[in-house]
Amino acid sequence: MIIAEAGYRIQDYFHIKQAEFLAFYEHGILNTGNKIWLSRSKLTDSGGFLEEPQIEEKLQSLGWIIFHPQEHTVSEQLAILASAHRVAGIEGSAFHIVALFKQFQGQIDIFIRGKQLNGNYRTIANRKNFKQYEHVIEKSCVKNPASSRALWSVSNVSNIINLLTTSKDNFMSNSFDNDASKTVKIIPGTHSPRRINKLLESCNGNRYLEIGVAEGKTFFNVNSKEKVAVDPHFRFEYITRTTKDIRFYEMTSDDFFCKDLEKGRFDIIMVDGLHTFEQTFRDFCASLSLAHDRTIWLIDDTVPNDVFSAIPNQREAISFRKKFGGKSNAWHGDVFKVIFAINDFFPCFQYRTISTDGNSQTIVWRASRPNFQPKFNSLEKISRLDFFDLHQNFNLMNARTEEEVLDEINEIFQKMT
Ligand SMILES: C[S@@+](CC[C@H](N)C(=O)[O-])C[C@H]1O[C@@H](n2cnc3c(N)ncnc32)[C@H](O)[C@@H]1O
Repeated sequence: MIIAEAGYRIQDYFHIKQAEFLAFYEHGILNTGNKIWLSRSKLTDSGGFLEEPQIEEKLQSLGWIIFHPQEHTVSEQLAILASAHRVAGIEGSAFHIVALFKQFQGQIDIFIRGKQLNGNYRTIANRKNFKQYEHVIEKSCVKNPASSRALWSVSNVSNIINLLTTSKDNFMSNSFDNDASKTVKIIPGTHSPRRINKLLESCNGNRYLEIGVAEGKTFFNVNSKEKVAVDPHFRFEYITRTTKDIRFYEMTSDDFFCKDLEKGRFDIIMVDGLHTFEQTFRDFCASLSLAHDRTIWLIDDTVPNDVFSAIPNQREAISFRKKFGGKSNAWHGDVFKVIFAINDFFPCFQYRTISTDGNSQTIVWRASRPNFQPKFNSLEKISRLDFFDLHQNFNLMNARTEEEVLDEINEIFQKMT
């Protein structure tokens, strides 16, 4: 039996051929500059926002067209969207129609209904490569919190109007934030890209490798000419984003390293794959073959935020925390042991742990350690350490503020040039 490859997987995958097949509608030249609100307000039991009629009234007074898709044929819906340079609305399936465009040229603003956007909208936007802004706004559930038809009350209608009438430069394309109390704003780099971009400047680097990429929140914000991503399951469509300089390997780090797929040497290597001691240590060791004398590593999640987070099994970490009343899903695993292993077995490497301004990460670089002194002197002993051992030996982490670490690295690497 031959089973065809999936053209679309609900939430997260849209094959390029399937996208091409569906894209029959020629957009033509964007001319009218219409602003369209895709309304849910006339749907019965619509879910959505209680205050949608007020939002619509205000937008209408500002020249927006309030469009009720269910009252129109598909061709009419395509035509009205084609006339728009801006299409906004509360999350809903009417937005799927953009998959039928050859090239959608407008901009989409989706207001997320529940806590998190249904992945299909972003999958379509990524595949079709149009501008889409996803907004999480402050709201409270007033009906059926558990249902897809939940009704929400928006605390501040003018917040939505402002979002649609101010410049979009303040918002991140295709971005999403779990914190339902704010809209999605570009922070001038969240901690990882902020640190990596500074490191790239310090070492004049332009070749970046990231092990464990997930949604690409770091990867896509790193300003390096060449970038290589490795992850067994990218949470975005990577085929269309591949270029000569930006390469994606959808596989485990072990596969990536043992297949010897990249020949050059990287200036910065971020190690952020599976958060276990063994895997992260192996990733670090394997990546030495892709490093040069001035390579800088950034190892993520090196200080677990609580005892649960340090459990090497993610599921156990979260379920134990829940059992004892904790709510967070944070999981660092036992990556901290990698730093102890570097301390004991890599006398030619120096490291500092950034312990402020975001998640803790350890920066490693090649430089001899005159005061080298192994502490445990056994990988087996290190592998048996726990959260409390970490804190008893915390001095070994070489923890500093972000500023101190980045300044120190900058000074060292600038002297080398
Ligand atoms: C914490 S996320 C990475 C976040 C990303 N570096 C960022 O800053 O946005 C960890 C990622 O590691 C990936 N991963 C898990 N096992 C892996 C493995 N064996 N090799 C490479 N990546 C792995 C997961 O699929 C997940 O996407």
